[in-house]
Amino acid sequence: MPATQGSRIDAYVDRYAARATGMVASEIRALFSVASRPEVVSLAGGMPYVTALPLDVVGELVSDLVAKRGPVALQYGSGQGDPHLREQICEVMRLEGIESGPDDVVVTVGSQQALDLITRIFIDPGDVVLAEGPSYVGALGTFSAYQAKVVHIAMDDEGIIPESLAQTIYALQTAGSRIKFLYTVPTFQNPAGVTLSVARRRQVLEICQRAGILIIEDNPYGLLGFDGDPMRALRADNADGVVYLGSFSKTLAPGFRVGWALAPHAIREKLVLAMESAVLSHSSFTQLAVGQYLATQPWREQIKTFRELYRERRDALLDALEAVMPAGCTWTRPRGGFFVWMTLPEGLDSKAILPRAVSERVAFVPGTGFFTDGGGARHMRLSYCYPEPDRIREGVRRLARVIEQEMRLRDTFGTSSAPDHGGVDTPGPDLA
Ligand SMILES: Cc1ncc(COP(=O)(O)O)c(C=O)c1O
Repeated sequence: MPATQGSRIDAYVDRYAARATGMVASEIRALFSVASRPEVVSLAGGMPYVTALPLDVVGELVSDLVAKRGPVALQYGSGQGDPHLREQICEVMRLEGIESGPDDVVVTVGSQQALDLITRIFIDPGDVVLAEGPSYVGALGTFSAYQAKVVHIAMDDEGIIPESLAQTIYALQTAGSRIKFLYTVPTFQNPAGVTLSVARRRQVLEICQRAGILIIEDNPYGLLGFDGDPMRALRADNADGVVYLGSFSKTLAPGFRVGWALAPHAIREKLVLAMESAVLSHSSFTQLAVGQYLATQPWREQIKTFRELYRERRDALLDALEAVMPAGCTWTRPRGGFFVWMTLPEGLDSKAILPRAVSERVAFVPGTGFFTDGGGARHMRLSYCYPEPDRIREGVRRLARVIEQEMRLRDTFGTSSAPDHGGVDTPGPDLA
């Protein structure tokens, strides 16, 4: 019997490569198509607020680019990326203490593609990737597509717990597992909103160096801090043991799809070959557009505008949670980025609650999507990047009512949980 995907029968089910079995659409996607209706307050999406950009200026810049540099902008480019943009990227990374040269940078289709290429060149089926628990859903989807085994490392309000990292590495290496790298979002993490403290940064670097484990530092939110200067990147203190991934998706716009990897020389060479095999070359057009934006526009001030806007929304969310969430709910207090991670009282299951929340016109991402080991049921990710503050407050009021109702149901009938379909619970790009 052919297997069904949704309501459609898949005639090719027995012909896919084994790795395709790891690619499963989440059943919560269907719910999110309802959640994108205007009457629903979505605290689910991870979309930056691009409306805050000077869109007319960007429009002129793009049209000028075609008129004046069309033959280059509309031509194939190099597999490593535009050399001038790579220099500008080094300047951006300097804000986080990174000293680097353009030769070590590869421009990619968002940092998501960098993640894909890194995984492609390092992972054989069954290899272990260490990742925070919870971890960025798009990375988990990539690891699963390449049949990696993800082992989560516990974290708290200061990020990865170094003892947990050291113990896990020891146990896995003693058991003969092949650990290929540690994947981490140390600053304003997606989804937990927490930041690895300075002291722990040192410890994590030391532990990985001692154990010979490469670190993949994914840092799309690093410049979106609400107070103080940007954190020093892990890569700033170890050029040989860290591959740094960056992106213009949150500091400019995801529509350009421009991200990058900064890697030790040998890895960089493999990345370029993998890049060429995937797409020949990145779009010259969007690379030059980003380069032109950086060269002619006050991009640091624009990042400040984004930071202020997101800070106001973070405050709206935290104040509203404080005001209306029932006792027993706890949440993180991000100092930058897009996300708050909420923990529900014992006996509540965020995935089971989601349909009820959507019918009350509020949406969130259930915590299970951010774990590969069945964890996360008592958690949810709330994002404040996209809705306006008033909408955020209204969304939180609706959510609080739903959670109170769930608590009453739990007290009457006991605990509930959503069915588990197995696999990685990846929502679509707008929710990543
Ligand atoms: C932690 C993290 N890494 C990578 C990405 C991918 O970003 P992009 O491919 O747009 O650069 C995202 C997007 O939300 C993210 O949150």
